[in-house]
Amino acid sequence: TKFTSDRLLLFGATGDLSRRMLLPSLCALDAEGLLDPSIEIVATARSDMDDQSFRNFARQSLEQFLPANRRGGLATFLNRLSYQALDANEMEGFKALAEKVGKPEEGLSIFLSTAPSLFEPTIHGLQSSGLAGPNVRIGLEKPLGVDLASSRVINDAVASAFPEERIYRIDHYLGKETVQNLLALRFANLMFEPLWNAAHIDHVQITVAETVGLESRVGYYDDSGALRDMVQNHILQLLALVAMEPPVSYDATNVRDEKVKVLRSLRKVNVSETVTGQYRAGAISGGAVPGYDEELGKDSNTETFVAIKAHIDNWRWQGVPFYLRTGKRLPRRTTEIVVQFRNVPHSIFSGRGAKTVPNRLVIGIQPEENITLSLMAKIPGLDREGIGLRSVPLAITMPDAFAGPQRRIAYERLLLDLIEGDQTLFVRRDEVEAQWDWIDAIRAGWDEQALEPKTYTAGSWGPSAAIALAERDGVTWHE
Ligand code: BG6
Repeated sequence: TKFTSDRLLLFGATGDLSRRMLLPSLCALDAEGLLDPSIEIVATARSDMDDQSFRNFARQSLEQFLPANRRGGLATFLNRLSYQALDANEMEGFKALAEKVGKPEEGLSIFLSTAPSLFEPTIHGLQSSGLAGPNVRIGLEKPLGVDLASSRVINDAVASAFPEERIYRIDHYLGKETVQNLLALRFANLMFEPLWNAAHIDHVQITVAETVGLESRVGYYDDSGALRDMVQNHILQLLALVAMEPPVSYDATNVRDEKVKVLRSLRKVNVSETVTGQYRAGAISGGAVPGYDEELGKDSNTETFVAIKAHIDNWRWQGVPFYLRTGKRLPRRTTEIVVQFRNVPHSIFSGRGAKTVPNRLVIGIQPEENITLSLMAKIPGLDREGIGLRSVPLAITMPDAFAGPQRRIAYERLLLDLIEGDQTLFVRRDEVEAQWDWIDAIRAGWDEQALEPKTYTAGSWGPSAAIALAERDGVTWHE
Protein backbone atom coordinates (compact mmCIF):
# COMPACT_ATOMS: atom_id res chain seq x y z
CA THR A 1 0.00 0.00 0.00
CA LYS A 2 1.55 3.24 -1.16
CA PHE A 3 1.17 6.24 1.04
CA THR A 4 3.70 8.30 2.88
CA SER A 5 2.95 8.78 6.52
CA ASP A 6 2.55 12.22 7.91
CA ARG A 7 2.88 10.98 11.41
CA LEU A 8 4.99 8.52 13.24
CA LEU A 9 3.78 7.11 16.53
CA LEU A 10 6.50 5.59 18.63
CA PHE A 11 5.62 3.17 21.45
CA GLY A 12 8.35 2.49 24.01
CA ALA A 13 9.84 5.90 23.27
CA THR A 14 11.81 6.11 26.50
CA GLY A 15 13.30 2.63 26.15
CA ASP A 16 16.81 1.62 25.33
CA LEU A 17 16.21 0.97 21.63
CA SER A 18 14.57 4.34 21.26
CA ARG A 19 17.43 6.17 22.94
CA ARG A 20 20.23 4.36 21.16
CA MET A 21 18.77 3.72 17.74
CA LEU A 22 15.34 5.10 16.91
CA LEU A 23 15.65 8.74 17.96
CA PRO A 24 19.21 9.00 16.57
CA SER A 25 18.09 7.43 13.28
CA LEU A 26 15.16 9.81 12.91
CA CYS A 27 17.31 12.80 13.74
CA ALA A 28 19.96 11.71 11.24
CA LEU A 29 17.30 11.25 8.53
CA ASP A 30 16.02 14.71 9.31
CA ALA A 31 19.49 16.23 9.18
CA GLU A 32 19.89 14.79 5.69
CA GLY A 33 16.57 16.20 4.55
CA LEU A 34 14.99 12.76 4.24
CA LEU A 35 12.04 13.42 6.52
CA ASP A 36 9.28 15.41 4.93
CA PRO A 37 8.91 18.76 6.73
CA SER A 38 5.31 17.88 7.56
CA ILE A 39 6.13 14.70 9.51
CA GLU A 40 5.30 14.83 13.19
CA ILE A 41 6.54 12.27 15.67
CA VAL A 42 4.36 11.37 18.62
CA ALA A 43 6.21 9.50 21.34
CA THR A 44 4.55 7.44 24.01
CA ALA A 45 5.60 5.39 27.02
CA ARG A 46 4.55 4.89 30.62
CA SER A 47 6.61 7.72 32.14
CA ASP A 48 4.82 10.86 33.06
CA MET A 49 6.35 13.58 30.88
CA ASP A 50 5.17 16.51 28.82
CA ASP A 51 6.35 17.50 25.36
CA GLN A 52 9.12 19.66 26.70
CA SER A 53 10.55 17.10 29.07
CA PHE A 54 10.47 14.46 26.35
CA ARG A 55 12.33 16.81 24.03
CA ASN A 56 14.97 17.26 26.71
CA PHE A 57 15.15 13.52 27.13
CA ALA A 58 15.52 13.12 23.35
CA ARG A 59 18.21 15.80 23.18
CA GLN A 60 20.26 13.98 25.80
CA SER A 61 19.94 10.69 23.95
CA LEU A 62 20.97 12.30 20.68
CA GLU A 63 23.97 13.97 22.23
CA GLN A 64 24.99 10.65 23.66
CA PHE A 65 24.31 8.37 20.71
CA LEU A 66 24.51 10.40 17.50
CA PRO A 67 27.80 11.90 16.32
CA ALA A 68 27.67 15.70 16.32
CA ASN A 69 28.21 15.93 12.56
CA ARG A 70 25.00 14.02 11.98
CA ARG A 71 22.82 16.14 14.24
CA GLY A 72 22.38 19.16 11.97
CA GLY A 73 19.11 20.97 12.60
CA LEU A 74 18.65 19.38 15.99
CA ALA A 75 16.20 22.07 17.10
CA THR A 76 13.97 21.48 14.07
CA PHE A 77 14.00 17.79 14.79
CA LEU A 78 13.11 18.24 18.46
CA ASN A 79 10.21 20.44 17.41
CA ARG A 80 8.69 17.53 15.55
CA LEU A 81 8.44 15.56 18.79
CA SER A 82 5.51 15.49 21.14
CA TYR A 83 4.73 13.12 23.97
CA GLN A 84 1.74 11.40 25.47
CA ALA A 85 2.03 9.18 28.54
CA LEU A 86 0.15 5.91 28.21
CA ASP A 87 -0.43 2.72 30.11
CA ALA A 88 -1.10 0.17 27.38
CA ASN A 89 -3.38 -1.77 29.70
CA GLU A 90 -5.75 1.14 30.17
CA MET A 91 -8.01 1.81 27.21
CA GLU A 92 -8.79 5.35 28.40
CA GLY A 93 -5.28 6.48 27.57
CA PHE A 94 -5.66 5.53 23.91
CA LYS A 95 -8.38 8.13 23.41
CA ALA A 96 -6.04 10.89 24.53
CA LEU A 97 -3.34 9.40 22.34
CA ALA A 98 -5.64 9.34 19.33
CA GLU A 99 -6.42 13.01 19.88
CA LYS A 100 -2.76 13.86 20.04
CA VAL A 101 -2.02 11.90 16.88
CA GLY A 102 -4.76 13.60 14.90
CA LYS A 103 -5.99 12.25 11.58
CA PRO A 104 -4.71 8.71 11.07
CA GLU A 105 -6.49 8.53 7.71
CA GLU A 106 -3.90 10.96 6.37
CA GLY A 107 -1.16 8.42 6.81
CA LEU A 108 0.25 7.09 10.05
CA SER A 109 3.15 4.77 10.82
CA ILE A 110 3.26 3.13 14.22
CA PHE A 111 6.35 1.52 15.68
CA LEU A 112 6.04 -0.86 18.63
CA SER A 113 9.22 -1.14 20.61
CA THR A 114 7.68 -2.38 23.83
CA ALA A 115 7.67 -5.54 25.87
CA PRO A 116 5.95 -8.29 23.86
CA SER A 117 3.44 -8.71 26.69
CA LEU A 118 2.09 -5.27 25.74
CA PHE A 119 1.58 -6.08 22.06
CA GLU A 120 -1.91 -7.49 22.42
CA PRO A 121 -3.36 -4.75 24.65
CA THR A 122 -1.69 -2.13 22.47
CA ILE A 123 -3.17 -3.53 19.27
CA HIS A 124 -6.53 -3.66 20.97
CA GLY A 125 -6.19 -0.05 22.16
CA LEU A 126 -5.16 1.14 18.71
CA GLN A 127 -8.12 -0.57 17.16
CA SER A 128 -10.70 0.72 19.60
CA SER A 129 -9.40 4.28 19.40
CA GLY A 130 -9.50 4.40 15.61
CA LEU A 131 -5.74 4.23 15.18
CA ALA A 132 -5.71 1.09 13.05
CA GLY A 133 -7.48 2.28 9.93
CA PRO A 134 -6.58 1.70 6.27
CA ASN A 135 -3.83 4.30 6.06
CA VAL A 136 -1.99 3.04 9.08
CA ARG A 137 0.95 0.67 9.07
CA ILE A 138 2.64 -0.94 12.03
CA GLY A 139 6.27 -1.82 12.67
CA LEU A 140 7.09 -4.50 15.23
CA GLU A 141 10.35 -4.92 17.04
CA LYS A 142 11.50 -8.34 18.24
CA PRO A 143 11.12 -10.52 20.18
CA LEU A 144 8.01 -11.74 18.40
CA GLY A 145 7.43 -14.70 20.65
CA VAL A 146 9.74 -17.34 22.05
CA ASP A 147 8.63 -20.19 19.80
CA LEU A 148 6.30 -20.89 16.90
CA ALA A 149 3.18 -21.12 19.04
CA SER A 150 3.73 -17.85 20.89
CA SER A 151 4.77 -16.05 17.72
CA ARG A 152 1.50 -17.17 16.13
CA VAL A 153 -0.46 -15.70 19.02
CA ILE A 154 1.27 -12.34 18.50
CA ASN A 155 0.92 -12.50 14.73
CA ASP A 156 -2.77 -13.36 15.03
CA ALA A 157 -3.36 -10.46 17.38
CA VAL A 158 -1.67 -8.05 14.99
CA ALA A 159 -3.46 -9.58 12.03
CA SER A 160 -6.81 -8.96 13.66
CA ALA A 161 -6.19 -5.22 13.23
CA PHE A 162 -3.73 -4.96 10.33
CA PRO A 163 -3.42 -6.89 7.06
CA GLU A 164 0.00 -8.36 6.26
CA GLU A 165 0.71 -5.62 3.67
CA ARG A 166 0.70 -3.10 6.49
CA ILE A 167 2.77 -5.11 9.01
CA TYR A 168 6.50 -4.37 9.13
CA ARG A 169 8.45 -6.90 11.21
CA ILE A 170 11.92 -5.66 12.00
CA ASP A 171 15.08 -7.68 11.69
CA HIS A 172 17.58 -4.88 12.01
CA TYR A 173 20.25 -6.88 10.18
CA LEU A 174 18.28 -6.28 6.99
CA GLY A 175 18.72 -2.55 7.54
CA LYS A 176 22.50 -2.81 7.41
CA GLU A 177 24.04 -1.50 4.19
CA THR A 178 26.46 -4.38 4.17
CA VAL A 179 23.69 -6.95 4.32
CA GLN A 180 21.92 -5.32 1.39
CA ASN A 181 25.25 -5.33 -0.40
CA LEU A 182 25.15 -9.13 -0.31
CA LEU A 183 22.34 -8.92 -2.83
CA ALA A 184 24.34 -6.55 -5.00
CA LEU A 185 27.34 -8.84 -4.83
CA ARG A 186 25.34 -11.90 -5.80
CA PHE A 187 22.93 -10.46 -8.33
CA ALA A 188 24.68 -7.48 -9.90
CA ASN A 189 27.78 -9.47 -10.86
CA LEU A 190 28.04 -12.26 -13.35
CA MET A 191 31.00 -13.98 -11.79
CA PHE A 192 29.59 -15.54 -8.67
CA GLU A 193 26.16 -16.85 -9.56
CA PRO A 194 27.26 -19.65 -11.95
CA LEU A 195 29.52 -21.03 -9.20
CA TRP A 196 27.09 -20.46 -6.35
CA ASN A 197 25.96 -24.06 -5.83
CA ALA A 198 26.90 -27.48 -4.54
CA ALA A 199 28.99 -28.29 -7.60
CA HIS A 200 31.46 -25.51 -6.78
CA ILE A 201 31.00 -24.61 -3.14
CA ASP A 202 32.36 -26.85 -0.41
CA HIS A 203 30.72 -25.15 2.55
CA VAL A 204 29.57 -21.81 3.94
CA GLN A 205 30.33 -20.29 7.35
CA ILE A 206 28.32 -17.56 9.03
CA THR A 207 29.77 -16.05 12.19
CA VAL A 208 28.17 -13.34 14.32
CA ALA A 209 30.61 -12.75 17.17
CA GLU A 210 30.13 -10.19 19.91
CA THR A 211 32.42 -9.06 22.69
CA VAL A 212 29.61 -7.77 24.89
CA GLY A 213 28.08 -9.91 27.62
CA LEU A 214 24.67 -9.76 29.20
CA GLU A 215 24.59 -5.92 29.13
CA SER A 216 22.04 -5.52 31.91
CA ARG A 217 19.35 -7.23 29.82
CA VAL A 218 18.96 -9.71 32.62
CA GLY A 219 15.30 -10.63 32.28
CA TYR A 220 15.11 -10.78 28.52
CA TYR A 221 18.35 -12.51 27.69
CA ASP A 222 18.23 -15.26 30.24
CA ASP A 223 14.79 -16.32 28.98
CA SER A 224 15.98 -16.15 25.42
CA GLY A 225 19.53 -17.41 24.90
CA ALA A 226 21.70 -17.17 21.81
CA LEU A 227 19.58 -19.50 19.66
CA ARG A 228 16.44 -17.37 19.96
CA ASP A 229 18.21 -14.04 20.26
CA MET A 230 20.50 -14.30 17.24
CA VAL A 231 20.03 -17.48 15.20
CA GLN A 232 16.25 -17.45 14.86
CA ASN A 233 16.35 -14.03 13.23
CA HIS A 234 19.64 -12.45 12.16
CA ILE A 235 21.64 -15.53 11.24
CA LEU A 236 18.77 -17.20 9.42
CA GLN A 237 18.12 -14.03 7.46
CA LEU A 238 21.78 -13.89 6.44
CA LEU A 239 21.61 -17.56 5.49
CA ALA A 240 18.49 -16.95 3.41
CA LEU A 241 20.13 -14.08 1.53
CA VAL A 242 23.23 -16.16 0.81
CA ALA A 243 21.32 -19.22 -0.28
CA MET A 244 18.23 -17.93 -2.08
CA GLU A 245 17.53 -18.19 -5.79
CA PRO A 246 17.69 -14.97 -7.80
CA PRO A 247 14.43 -13.12 -7.12
CA VAL A 248 12.40 -11.96 -10.13
CA SER A 249 12.98 -8.38 -9.04
CA TYR A 250 14.04 -6.44 -6.01
CA ASP A 251 10.71 -5.94 -4.33
CA ALA A 252 8.96 -7.10 -1.21
CA THR A 253 7.04 -10.00 -2.71
CA ASN A 254 9.77 -11.43 -4.90
CA VAL A 255 12.63 -11.15 -2.43
CA ARG A 256 10.59 -12.60 0.43
CA ASP A 257 9.20 -15.40 -1.74
CA GLU A 258 12.76 -16.56 -2.40
CA LYS A 259 13.90 -16.23 1.21
CA VAL A 260 11.00 -18.24 2.57
CA LYS A 261 11.76 -21.09 0.15
CA VAL A 262 15.24 -21.38 1.65
CA LEU A 263 13.92 -21.24 5.20
CA ARG A 264 11.47 -24.01 4.44
CA SER A 265 14.26 -26.11 2.95
CA LEU A 266 16.26 -26.17 6.17
CA ARG A 267 16.68 -29.75 7.33
CA LYS A 268 15.86 -30.45 10.96
CA VAL A 269 19.17 -30.59 12.80
CA ASN A 270 20.42 -33.44 15.03
CA VAL A 271 21.55 -32.45 18.50
CA SER A 272 24.97 -33.87 17.60
CA GLU A 273 25.27 -31.13 14.98
CA THR A 274 24.87 -28.37 17.56
CA VAL A 275 27.11 -27.06 20.32
CA THR A 276 26.00 -24.71 23.08
CA GLY A 277 28.16 -22.77 25.47
CA GLN A 278 28.07 -20.32 28.33
CA TYR A 279 30.94 -18.00 29.16
CA ARG A 280 32.92 -18.02 32.36
CA ALA A 281 35.09 -15.21 33.67
CA GLY A 282 37.91 -14.27 31.33
CA ALA A 283 39.32 -11.29 29.49
CA ILE A 284 38.30 -9.25 26.46
CA SER A 285 40.99 -7.06 24.89
CA GLY A 286 43.06 -7.40 28.01
CA GLY A 287 40.29 -6.37 30.44
CA ALA A 288 38.92 -8.85 32.96
CA VAL A 289 35.21 -9.66 32.61
CA PRO A 290 32.94 -11.74 34.87
CA GLY A 291 31.23 -14.96 33.92
CA TYR A 292 27.61 -15.13 32.78
CA ASP A 293 26.36 -16.59 36.05
CA GLU A 294 28.12 -13.83 37.99
CA GLU A 295 26.58 -11.13 35.79
CA LEU A 296 23.21 -12.76 36.16
CA GLY A 297 23.61 -13.34 39.88
CA LYS A 298 22.47 -16.97 39.72
CA ASP A 299 23.07 -20.27 37.99
CA SER A 300 21.46 -20.64 34.62
CA ASN A 301 21.30 -23.08 31.73
CA THR A 302 20.93 -20.38 29.12
CA GLU A 303 23.34 -20.63 26.20
CA THR A 304 25.39 -17.55 25.34
CA PHE A 305 27.01 -19.35 22.42
CA VAL A 306 25.71 -21.69 19.79
CA ALA A 307 27.24 -23.41 16.78
CA ILE A 308 25.17 -25.39 14.30
CA LYS A 309 25.91 -27.41 11.21
CA ALA A 310 22.91 -26.67 9.02
CA HIS A 311 21.77 -28.26 5.76
CA ILE A 312 19.54 -26.90 3.05
CA ASP A 313 17.60 -29.62 1.31
CA ASN A 314 17.16 -28.31 -2.19
CA TRP A 315 18.82 -28.81 -5.56
CA ARG A 316 21.27 -25.95 -5.28
CA TRP A 317 22.68 -26.80 -1.86
CA GLN A 318 22.50 -30.56 -1.49
CA GLY A 319 25.56 -31.72 0.46
CA VAL A 320 26.86 -28.23 1.29
CA PRO A 321 27.01 -27.67 5.04
CA PHE A 322 26.34 -24.20 6.45
CA TYR A 323 28.30 -23.78 9.67
CA LEU A 324 26.65 -21.15 11.84
CA ARG A 325 27.93 -19.71 15.09
CA THR A 326 27.23 -16.80 17.36
CA GLY A 327 28.20 -15.90 20.88
CA LYS A 328 28.66 -13.27 23.52
CA ARG A 329 32.09 -12.50 25.00
CA LEU A 330 34.02 -13.79 22.01
CA PRO A 331 37.43 -12.26 21.23
CA ARG A 332 36.30 -9.80 18.54
CA ARG A 333 33.12 -8.18 17.32
CA THR A 334 32.72 -9.50 13.83
CA THR A 335 30.00 -10.62 11.49
CA GLU A 336 31.16 -12.39 8.39
CA ILE A 337 30.16 -14.87 5.77
CA VAL A 338 32.71 -17.25 4.32
CA VAL A 339 32.03 -19.04 1.07
CA GLN A 340 34.55 -21.83 0.64
CA PHE A 341 34.82 -23.05 -2.94
CA ARG A 342 35.98 -26.52 -3.93
CA ASN A 343 39.48 -27.20 -5.16
CA VAL A 344 40.34 -27.27 -8.85
CA PRO A 345 39.47 -30.69 -10.31
CA HIS A 346 43.08 -31.34 -11.35
CA SER A 347 46.28 -29.42 -10.79
CA ILE A 348 48.75 -29.15 -13.66
CA PHE A 349 51.44 -27.78 -11.36
CA SER A 350 53.85 -30.13 -9.72
CA GLY A 351 56.63 -27.81 -8.54
CA ARG A 352 57.64 -27.39 -4.95
CA GLY A 353 54.97 -25.50 -3.06
CA ALA A 354 52.55 -25.96 -5.93
CA LYS A 355 49.63 -27.25 -3.93
CA THR A 356 46.46 -25.39 -4.89
CA VAL A 357 44.37 -23.99 -2.07
CA PRO A 358 40.65 -23.69 -2.84
CA ASN A 359 39.32 -20.18 -3.42
CA ARG A 360 37.49 -18.56 -0.58
CA LEU A 361 35.22 -15.54 -0.58
CA VAL A 362 35.03 -13.73 2.74
CA ILE A 363 32.28 -11.15 3.07
CA GLY A 364 32.79 -8.93 6.10
CA ILE A 365 29.51 -7.45 7.32
CA GLN A 366 30.78 -5.62 10.40
CA PRO A 367 32.58 -3.86 11.95
CA GLU A 368 34.50 -3.40 8.71
CA GLU A 369 33.03 -4.15 5.32
CA ASN A 370 35.75 -5.93 3.44
CA ILE A 371 35.23 -8.40 0.66
CA THR A 372 38.16 -10.70 0.05
CA LEU A 373 38.54 -13.38 -2.56
CA SER A 374 41.54 -15.60 -2.14
CA LEU A 375 43.18 -16.54 -5.43
CA MET A 376 46.16 -18.72 -6.29
CA ALA A 377 49.10 -16.86 -7.78
CA LYS A 378 52.57 -17.77 -8.96
CA ILE A 379 55.32 -17.04 -6.49
CA PRO A 380 57.62 -14.74 -8.46
CA GLY A 381 61.09 -16.08 -9.23
CA LEU A 382 63.12 -18.37 -11.45
CA ASP A 383 62.58 -21.55 -9.48
CA ARG A 384 63.97 -24.52 -11.43
CA GLU A 385 61.44 -26.77 -9.78
CA GLY A 386 58.62 -25.19 -11.79
CA ILE A 387 55.83 -22.87 -10.76
CA GLY A 388 55.33 -22.30 -7.05
CA LEU A 389 51.91 -21.19 -5.87
CA ARG A 390 50.58 -19.10 -3.06
CA SER A 391 47.11 -17.97 -2.08
CA VAL A 392 46.83 -14.17 -2.28
CA PRO A 393 43.88 -11.94 -1.41
CA LEU A 394 41.96 -9.87 -3.90
CA ALA A 395 40.47 -7.40 -1.46
CA ILE A 396 37.96 -4.59 -1.57
CA THR A 397 37.52 -2.26 1.37
CA MET A 398 34.16 -0.61 1.00
CA PRO A 399 34.92 2.81 2.51
CA ASP A 400 37.81 3.05 0.02
CA ALA A 401 35.60 2.01 -2.87
CA PHE A 402 32.99 4.64 -1.99
CA ALA A 403 34.53 7.88 -0.83
CA GLY A 404 33.08 9.18 2.39
CA PRO A 405 29.84 7.28 2.98
CA GLN A 406 28.35 7.75 6.43
CA ARG A 407 28.27 4.84 8.76
CA ARG A 408 24.55 4.50 9.12
CA ILE A 409 22.39 3.04 11.83
CA ALA A 410 20.40 0.12 10.41
CA TYR A 411 17.19 1.73 11.66
CA GLU A 412 17.63 4.74 9.38
CA ARG A 413 16.85 2.59 6.36
CA LEU A 414 14.10 0.71 8.17
CA LEU A 415 12.31 3.74 9.61
CA LEU A 416 12.43 5.48 6.24
CA ASP A 417 10.98 2.39 4.57
CA LEU A 418 8.29 2.17 7.23
CA ILE A 419 7.30 5.80 6.71
CA GLU A 420 7.32 5.42 2.94
CA GLY A 421 5.77 1.98 2.80
CA ASP A 422 8.39 -0.40 1.38
CA GLN A 423 8.29 -3.89 2.94
CA THR A 424 11.28 -5.39 1.09
CA LEU A 425 13.57 -5.27 4.12
CA PHE A 426 10.95 -6.46 6.62
CA VAL A 427 10.22 -10.04 7.55
CA ARG A 428 6.99 -11.61 6.36
CA ARG A 429 4.90 -13.81 8.60
CA ASP A 430 5.67 -17.01 6.71
CA GLU A 431 9.39 -16.34 7.08
CA VAL A 432 9.15 -15.82 10.84
CA GLU A 433 7.15 -19.00 11.17
CA ALA A 434 9.56 -21.06 9.09
CA GLN A 435 12.39 -19.70 11.23
CA TRP A 436 10.66 -20.65 14.47
CA ASP A 437 9.73 -24.05 13.16
CA TRP A 438 13.38 -24.89 12.58
CA ILE A 439 14.52 -23.36 15.87
CA ASP A 440 11.82 -25.14 17.90
CA ALA A 441 13.04 -28.51 16.64
CA ILE A 442 16.56 -27.71 17.81
CA ARG A 443 15.31 -26.67 21.25
CA ALA A 444 13.16 -29.77 21.49
CA GLY A 445 16.25 -31.89 20.82
CA TRP A 446 18.17 -30.09 23.54
CA ASP A 447 15.33 -30.44 26.03
CA GLU A 448 14.93 -34.12 25.29
CA GLN A 449 18.57 -34.73 26.14
CA ALA A 450 18.54 -32.21 29.01
CA LEU A 451 21.54 -30.64 27.34
CA GLU A 452 23.60 -28.24 29.42
CA PRO A 453 25.77 -25.63 27.73
CA LYS A 454 29.50 -26.29 27.84
CA THR A 455 31.57 -23.60 29.45
CA TYR A 456 34.02 -21.36 27.63
CA THR A 457 36.33 -18.67 28.84
CA ALA A 458 35.23 -15.15 28.00
CA GLY A 459 37.53 -13.97 25.22
CA SER A 460 37.83 -17.39 23.55
CA TRP A 461 36.02 -18.59 20.42
CA GLY A 462 33.52 -20.69 22.39
CA PRO A 463 33.71 -24.26 23.67
CA SER A 464 36.28 -26.51 22.02
CA ALA A 465 33.41 -28.71 20.87
CA ALA A 466 32.47 -25.92 18.43
CA ILE A 467 35.88 -26.15 16.83
CA ALA A 468 35.54 -29.92 16.72
CA LEU A 469 32.11 -29.65 15.06
CA ALA A 470 33.79 -28.17 11.98
CA GLU A 471 37.05 -30.07 12.24
CA ARG A 472 35.31 -33.42 12.08
CA ASP A 473 34.60 -32.46 8.48
CA GLY A 474 38.10 -31.11 7.86
CA VAL A 475 36.81 -27.54 8.11
CA THR A 476 38.46 -24.75 10.08
CA TRP A 477 36.47 -21.76 11.26
CA HIS A 478 37.75 -18.60 9.62
CA GLU A 479 39.36 -16.17 12.04
C1 BG6 B 1 20.04 -7.94 18.89
C2 BG6 B 1 20.25 -8.91 20.01
O1 BG6 B 1 18.97 -8.36 18.10
O2 BG6 B 1 21.21 -7.86 18.10
C3 BG6 B 1 21.46 -8.52 20.84
O3 BG6 B 1 19.10 -8.94 20.85
C4 BG6 B 1 22.67 -8.32 19.97
O4 BG6 B 1 21.72 -9.50 21.83
C5 BG6 B 1 22.35 -7.41 18.79
O5 BG6 B 1 23.69 -7.76 20.74
C6 BG6 B 1 23.50 -7.35 17.81
O6 BG6 B 1 23.25 -6.37 16.86
P1 BG6 B 1 24.43 -5.66 16.09
O7 BG6 B 1 23.76 -4.75 15.12
O8 BG6 B 1 25.24 -4.95 17.13
O9 BG6 B 1 25.22 -6.74 15.44
